[in-house]
Amino acid sequence: MLSVVVLISGQGSNLQALLQACEQADYPAHVVAVGADRDAAGLQHAEERGIATFVVRYRDFAGRDEWGHALLTEVQRFQPGLVVLSGLMRLLPPEVVDALSPRLINTHPAYLPEFPGAHGVRDALAAGVERTGASIIVVDNGIDDGPVIAQERVPVLPGDTEDSLHERIKPVERRLLIQAVRDIATERIDLKEPAAR
Ligand code: GAR
Repeated sequence: MLSVVVLISGQGSNLQALLQACEQADYPAHVVAVGADRDAAGLQHAEERGIATFVVRYRDFAGRDEWGHALLTEVQRFQPGLVVLSGLMRLLPPEVVDALSPRLINTHPAYLPEFPGAHGVRDALAAGVERTGASIIVVDNGIDDGPVIAQERVPVLPGDTEDSLHERIKPVERRLLIQAVRDIATERIDLKEPAAR
């Protein structure tokens, strides 16, 4: 059974979907803790299931390196086999990436390498593309440029707003995330040598 720590900043809707998958008897992973960089609403999905939570507030530290060090200490208390960034809206400092990668994955609401960064949905809309997508990647020290382990296209529809497009991307992200975690647990995905799927 693969043990997973999930890190979030927001609503945690993708986290919620992963937690629901983990409740299926045949799912080969379980979430041992959920952490956040702020008092994220999504922590409630863990709390209501009796799963450990922790908050390492970015603003309580002198800088990114200090914050990252404290976050890493919390994550490592749970000795996870995988860490999932599921809407963590902070760049991790190199100490954290180097300690956890390649067993560190991120969900992103665009078809990477298109539209990396914090505003993947907004940037796709602004560029006027007809298709964007969702991606799951291994996190490295770049900005959303680690190896892609799963991705799928999502059409941009006439009249789409950032919210409507994001809400159409998220179900795809959830499906890809649940399958990717399953494939990592069953070693169908080798994180040391991931092949895009
Ligand atoms: C998700 O779409 C995730 O891909 C995105 O934040 C959303 C979190 O939603 N992450 C990024 O944009 C990272 N650059 P949720 O909190 O409802 O799961």
